[in-house]
Amino acid sequence: MKGLILSGGHGTRLRPLTHTGPKQLIPIANKPVLFYAIEDLKEAGITDIGIILGTNMPEKVKEAVGDGSKFDVEITYIMQGEPKGLAHAVSVAHDFVGNEPFVMYLGDNILKSGINEFVEGFEESEFDARILLQKVDEPERFGVAELNEKGEVTHLVEKPNEPKSDLALVGIYLFKSTIFEAIKKIKPSWRGELEITDAIQEFLNSQKKVDSHIVKGWWKDTGKPEDVLEANHLILDWLEASNKGKIEDGVKIHGRVNIDTGSVIRKGSVIRGPVIIGKNCEIDAYIGPYTAIGDNTRIIGGEIESSIVVGDSLIECEKKIVDSLIGNHSCIVSIGNRLPKGYRFVIGENSFVNL
Ligand code: G1P
Repeated sequence: MKGLILSGGHGTRLRPLTHTGPKQLIPIANKPVLFYAIEDLKEAGITDIGIILGTNMPEKVKEAVGDGSKFDVEITYIMQGEPKGLAHAVSVAHDFVGNEPFVMYLGDNILKSGINEFVEGFEESEFDARILLQKVDEPERFGVAELNEKGEVTHLVEKPNEPKSDLALVGIYLFKSTIFEAIKKIKPSWRGELEITDAIQEFLNSQKKVDSHIVKGWWKDTGKPEDVLEANHLILDWLEASNKGKIEDGVKIHGRVNIDTGSVIRKGSVIRGPVIIGKNCEIDAYIGPYTAIGDNTRIIGGEIESSIVVGDSLIECEKKIVDSLIGNHSCIVSIGNRLPKGYRFVIGENSFVNL
């Protein structure tokens, strides 16, 4: 079996963070979300993996993932060019996939328990596709599946205005190579995209068999800032404590805190885990639960909690920062007594500030 990870898309809902790289590289607990997909495939025994690249700085994905050797897998890069939908992305990978069954994994999805149990038995099964489903509160944001009383999939719709069920399609799909024929038959949707949901519906139209599994552990599509923060929260629940840095005397550490090399926690700081701190950071502050601080960040004074600092940033601020997603090379400071007093901002598109 092969693996196909989709790493295109503009990531508009995550701007300004996606102005400097694809959304699949946004870190969850200090690790790009895309890496979790590679690890899940590897764990399921799939080591021949294609990554489909879009137009938003694809070279950054190549730089981060490389040839796959650090994950013990082999990576082939496939250019999608302009994003014309998930089914279009799959169709450009036809040569790579050939006639093999494959797992298609959306690079911004993250799943608690991996994919082993779903991959098992698919290759030799009678099914042309296996889809994963989970109950969600806002099904209109997703592809939605309808099942009959026997639990068989009867109908699939992409982002319906009036969903007939609350079962969303998780962004991980298993296909036989018959999917390429189905994709040829579909037309672009109202949003101008070739939808993978429509290609699977095409299987149902032609009496092909589609299997479904309900995902019991958590699943997140990290398309929006609040989803990224929630995924960070869920992953940090599993964090193991470790210290490769330097903790000065008089620091209070509570719970699971993971500190990487070259980082120093200054006297008087309080770190309440789960917290992960990357390489070469300087912390002289209160760091509260569910915070991930990326490499080369200085946090001097103030408090931060339940947030992601991507990295290379300075936070020198007496206010408490909560539930925040702070992009690379950011600077958040309190100006002290300088006049005129007031808040000063240099803020990018789609920023959100709550004072
Ligand atoms: C895509 C699929 C949708 C699926 C979702 C899962 O949505 O089109 O059917 O439920 O991924 O993450 P998109 O990310 O394109 O909005």
